[in-house]
Amino acid sequence: MNSPFPYDRLSSPKEFFGRDIELKKLTQIVKYSNNLLIHSKRRMGKSSLIKNFFATNDEQLLSIYVDIFDITSKEDFALSLLKALSSTQKMDIKSAINNLTSLFKRVRVEPTIDPKTLEVSIKPIVVTLTFEQMMDDFFTAVDKLSKISKVVIAIDEFQQIASIVDVKLDAYLRKYIQNRGEVSYIFLGSKRHTLTSLFQYKAPLFELATHFELTPLKVEDIYNYAKQYIDISKDIVKYIHELSNGETNLIQNILHLLYIYKISNINKDSVDDILKEIIASKDASFRILFDTLNNNQKIALKVIGKYKKGFFALDVLNELNIKKQTLQSAINTLFKKEIVDKNGDEYFIPGRAFEIWVENL
Ligand SMILES: Nc1ncnc2c1ncn2[C@@H]1O[C@H](COP(=O)(O)OP(=O)(O)OP(=O)(O)O)[C@@H](O)[C@H]1O
Ligand SMILES: [Mg+2]
Repeated sequence: MNSPFPYDRLSSPKEFFGRDIELKKLTQIVKYSNNLLIHSKRRMGKSSLIKNFFATNDEQLLSIYVDIFDITSKEDFALSLLKALSSTQKMDIKSAINNLTSLFKRVRVEPTIDPKTLEVSIKPIVVTLTFEQMMDDFFTAVDKLSKISKVVIAIDEFQQIASIVDVKLDAYLRKYIQNRGEVSYIFLGSKRHTLTSLFQYKAPLFELATHFELTPLKVEDIYNYAKQYIDISKDIVKYIHELSNGETNLIQNILHLLYIYKISNINKDSVDDILKEIIASKDASFRILFDTLNNNQKIALKVIGKYKKGFFALDVLNELNIKKQTLQSAINTLFKKEIVDKNGDEYFIPGRAFEIWVENL
């Protein structure tokens, strides 16, 4: 049974709430064929936002959504783009294949059936093609399409392009992004350092996109939505928001359980119990993650959970029996692995549930 509070799947348009300002912003960006980089802490709602924007503008836009979280080569990247483009055709399969055949110079397409859902979709065939040929075909097709419709290309988990080392994908993309006509690019991702370094001064993508940080949903918006389904006050929504540090995923997870347990007159205790249950249910996977760290890194993580900042003070170092340099280098490693992050001089652990788990160690 689905609850009206999705937390482990993307929200459908009916379940999506808030984000009016962000949707307006996207509309403006697309209207003027500008580009946007949307970043945020994990699980804030980036993917949901862009998916919802596309769903509500389906008539006016040709929207290409590509998630590149699992790419391991430049060819993977090019193929992901081609696949995403192939699945945007809103006509019957035969016309779609004809249409794509006329758009592509070299890529062939053929129908394929998903063995699970039995849905027919279109698969690009690229075995004999090089990376350059695939990229050229993709962008030539986009160029043709942009002459008849406004095109928006959203690339989710964009920081992954930095993991491809045999070609500088950002430099490669720059060429195409600069020469675009009626095309907008929306880049999304959560690994802040990798992502912002792709767009920093002197980097190939510098100044090619406006930066935008997706902030937490507003208490007011959550309350107005939630009260339709559960017996909750605005103060309790505020409490949930604070406990979750505004992380949409955790907020939704708590609301989901409040909903399925049919708790009436929800109070702080019911929220605390549910939060405990959520953290407990994730214990095994958090342990696995924790066990991948060496001892100093484990200490560093606990220190961040406990103190957030100011832990280089002498009394803290004495208490932990660790040298400043050792702690610093362990923290640096955690930071590079993006297991911890930093806001000003304060450290935090992205993924609020994991942060709470660490705080309780
Ligand atoms: N505006 C919203 N209305 C309702 N549910 C939302 C909204 N935004 C996000 N969610 C829910 O919160 C969860 C996390 O959202 P989503 O996956 O979009 O975040 P993300 O920022 O893309 O996360 P990640 O960093 O893991 O890529 C999802 O289950 C989604 O359904
Ligand atoms: Mg996402």
